[in-house]
Amino acid sequence: MAVAHARAYHQIAEEPRVFTDPFAIPILGESVMTETYVDHGLDPELVRHRRLFIAARSRFADDTVAAAIVRGTDQVVILGAGLDTTAYRHSNTNVQFYEVDHPTTQEWKRRRLSQAGIAIPDALTFVPADFENTTLAAGLAGAGLDSNRSAVYVWLGVAVYLTRASVDGTLRYIASHGKSELVFDYFYPIAATPHDPTAAQLQARANRVAEAGEPWLTFFTSDEVRDSLVSVGYSRVEDRSATELLTFYGVPTDAPASNAGPHLVHCGTA
Ligand SMILES: C[S@@+](CC[C@H](N)C(=O)[O-])C[C@H]1O[C@@H](n2cnc3c(N)ncnc32)[C@H](O)[C@@H]1O
Repeated sequence: MAVAHARAYHQIAEEPRVFTDPFAIPILGESVMTETYVDHGLDPELVRHRRLFIAARSRFADDTVAAAIVRGTDQVVILGAGLDTTAYRHSNTNVQFYEVDHPTTQEWKRRRLSQAGIAIPDALTFVPADFENTTLAAGLAGAGLDSNRSAVYVWLGVAVYLTRASVDGTLRYIASHGKSELVFDYFYPIAATPHDPTAAQLQARANRVAEAGEPWLTFFTSDEVRDSLVSVGYSRVEDRSATELLTFYGVPTDAPASNAGPHLVHCGTA
């Protein structure tokens, strides 16, 4: 809900629009102007920076999906989909979309779609699965994903909530899909950037999500993430910090160049 809120607020906020999503506000089902618990009391500039990163990572994923479709890819897998609306925005293509999520979240999303009057595209298959057990590969194969054809995987805002074993297992599974590319984000260890001016606020946000029952569990440095990806078979790895991603999209930001916080990775096996 917190990331969906950020995408929705981004549609109306007084900032450069990086990502346009006509479904972002309707799917939210509540006022965009309500502050979410993860933002309460934090520095407004950092709240804005986080919101812009969430918008920019979706834009990057969208651009990657669009480029892959032009090259002939017709399978897109959204892992840990939450209230992501990619499939609803590309429903006029011949692309098959798979939304993987925890069964409880997926049921909640279906109710939200129904309440918002947003139709589920014919080309979308819901795949309930838990990354913490082995249901992912079986679930996608059973849903019809063809691992002999190329696919794009999008995995946003999820890895930090999983155990390291589940992150590694999921990366290994995706890499085993021939001709695949992946867009995902990870969090840099807060302890590795103790002098970063945002460290205290990042820790405050970490404490807040932990109190809400969703603790951040897995962090990587850039070297660690690259080593993990290369070891399971990815051959090209692009890694951008939040500030680098915003600069990539021409968004003015006062944030200092830093590894702290979330990073976005684009990698491929072919
Ligand atoms: C912060 S939300 C991000 C949602 C979406 N990717 C987005 O960017 O809006 C985290 C998502 O990860 C999913 N998730 C967390 N742990 C999971 C698990 N063990 N198995 C499956 N999904 C999980 C949640 O259900 C939720 O949809």
